[in-house]
Amino acid sequence: MYQQGIVKADHRNTMNAHKEEYGDFRKRDPDEYSTGSGNEDHMDVKPNVLYFGTPVVLISSLDKEGNVNLSPMSSAWALGYNVILGLSTVGKTYENLNETGELTLNFPDRDLLKSVETLAPLTGKNPVPPSKADRYRYESDKFKAADLTAVSSDIVHPPLVKECPIQMEAVVKSIHALCQEEVSAVIVEATVVKVHASKNLVLDNEHIDPVKWKPLIYSFRHYFSLGEQLGKSFKSET
Ligand SMILES: Cc1cc2nc3c(=O)[nH]c(=O)nc-3n(C[C@H](O)[C@H](O)[C@H](O)COP(=O)(O)O)c2cc1C
Repeated sequence: MYQQGIVKADHRNTMNAHKEEYGDFRKRDPDEYSTGSGNEDHMDVKPNVLYFGTPVVLISSLDKEGNVNLSPMSSAWALGYNVILGLSTVGKTYENLNETGELTLNFPDRDLLKSVETLAPLTGKNPVPPSKADRYRYESDKFKAADLTAVSSDIVHPPLVKECPIQMEAVVKSIHALCQEEVSAVIVEATVVKVHASKNLVLDNEHIDPVKWKPLIYSFRHYFSLGEQLGKSFKSET
């Protein structure tokens, strides 16, 4: 079904070759790149996260016994009908995807902020991993806790979140390691096998109405929705 276990990042050798030729960019003299010539309206900064603004997704998944988990995440984007997810290996979602290989991606809109923040300090891991023990608690029924409704998917086994206007059923294709092994996270690649959208968002069978769709955006740990439309791509068909 999918490549089980973590696929080691095979471009590590390329990285090492690059390092040998050019040196490790992280160890360069800071003055070499310091702000100053022509970039005076910017300053050096080291943000503690680089979450520049991506939609919130609620991932539903099942463990081997068929128990459902539901977790918010936002390091997600699409390449055609493949979705790429950045997932912590400390969470239950990672464990479930590794074990059962199916998921649904449910995109909340601005009206679901309260449910998202109710889910935020919860984990499906019991006991709670030590690194999360101070701020998270175990919850066995996250749908109920967040006042959300689980409805059956058509193809995969994990349920959809009824209240989310856009829902996707997906199958894990591979789980990739990061080059930086000290980061406890992986890259999950999954193929979307079915998309469901609220009827009021559908323009026709091939198009979602981007004017009506208002994703919940997670930006530097704050939530936003989208503002006014500024234009459209030369490739837009609507
Ligand atoms: C808005 C939001 C975005 C998040 N984005 C991610 C993410 O992209 N990847 C990730 O691993 N965790 C992310 N988290 C944290 C997980 O939701 C959190 O670790 C949760 O406890 C995981 O639950 P689980 O252990 O039941 O899977 C995010 C949390 C929130 C509230």
